[in-house]
Amino acid sequence: MKRIGMLTSGGDCQGLNAALRGVAKTLYEEYGEEVEIYGIRDGYRGLIEGDYHLMKPSDFSGILVQGGTILGTSRQPFKRMRVVENDVDKVARMKETYKKMKLDCLVILGGNGTHKSANLLSEEGLNVVTLPKTIDNDLWGTEMTFGFHSAMEIATNVLDCIHTTATSHGRVFIVEVMGHKVGWLTLYAGIAGGADVILLPEIPYSVDKIAKVIERRNQAGKRFSILAVAEGALSKEEAKLSKKEFKAARAQMSDPSVSYRLARELEERTGQEIRVTIPGHFQRGGSPCAYDKVLSTRFGAAAGRLIIEKKYGNMVGLQDGKVVPVPLSEVAGKLKTVPVDCEEISAARALGISFGD
Ligand code: F6P
Repeated sequence: MKRIGMLTSGGDCQGLNAALRGVAKTLYEEYGEEVEIYGIRDGYRGLIEGDYHLMKPSDFSGILVQGGTILGTSRQPFKRMRVVENDVDKVARMKETYKKMKLDCLVILGGNGTHKSANLLSEEGLNVVTLPKTIDNDLWGTEMTFGFHSAMEIATNVLDCIHTTATSHGRVFIVEVMGHKVGWLTLYAGIAGGADVILLPEIPYSVDKIAKVIERRNQAGKRFSILAVAEGALSKEEAKLSKKEFKAARAQMSDPSVSYRLARELEERTGQEIRVTIPGHFQRGGSPCAYDKVLSTRFGAAAGRLIIEKKYGNMVGLQDGKVVPVPLSEVAGKLKTVPVDCEEISAARALGISFGD
């Protein structure tokens, strides 16, 4: 009998259930009744506390289209993983649960933080296979994570809708897009949503430059301007600060949201009223788009194959369009940021889209 545990960790995203289904169906196809799949509740919390249950093949039916995660999720910061809290050594607890469950392999679906912990567990001798999920698409070792395309569709839809009201009123709008410390989601949604200015964490902006773009558009008779702003976008001044200085500066601000701060600064410079729209967690909600359903299924099937072939210690990743195993040690702790000279940015610049630099 094969015994497999599965958990989803970190912020949820579209395609998690599709990926769980992909792994489970692949294993049931291969082993039939000779495999038991256990769902571990709420990510690493369930592994630490021994909160798990045996799943049935029917639990994985009808979930391809379902958003969120049927296993629940939680954030368990890597920094705190090694720390003994209330006399609990979390890593030791996770190893105990794994042993108690008599697992052959632990399947972990997660983003960056999750992968650091997954690598740690792998180094501690657990058999681990992981799948890359996040709307941020910031995981090293894979061209694409599932969740990204669905979130991009939503953020683009927001920009499309803002276009019609911005045009009618002749207004300037800022749409704040998620993505944590990287700009993939803002770049893609910004291009797809026809933004006039796209601000990314990778390209520090100048408020004066953005004000000039808005003024030039006004002079050219354009009745509106739309700015797609990454939640992690930084001004040129902020980009020069050390991590500590930056934290201290943010703590002093009455409004830590980049969009509202930028709106105030632009209002001062242009004399125009600026509206802000923040779709927030809406971008992570709802059903996966068709692309994500396919990618999650491919990743799920590939993870299932890795388990069958006992190729542990790997994440499944997309490289040159193909799903391949990527060693966890290569993935953990690395951030995939947007290269400032990438083709997408060049294409946007060619069209006159400003990056505020
Ligand atoms: O990593 C996914 C993400 O949605 C980021 O884009 C965002 O910065 C963060 O999670 C929000 O985290 P939380 O759900 O904990 O508020």
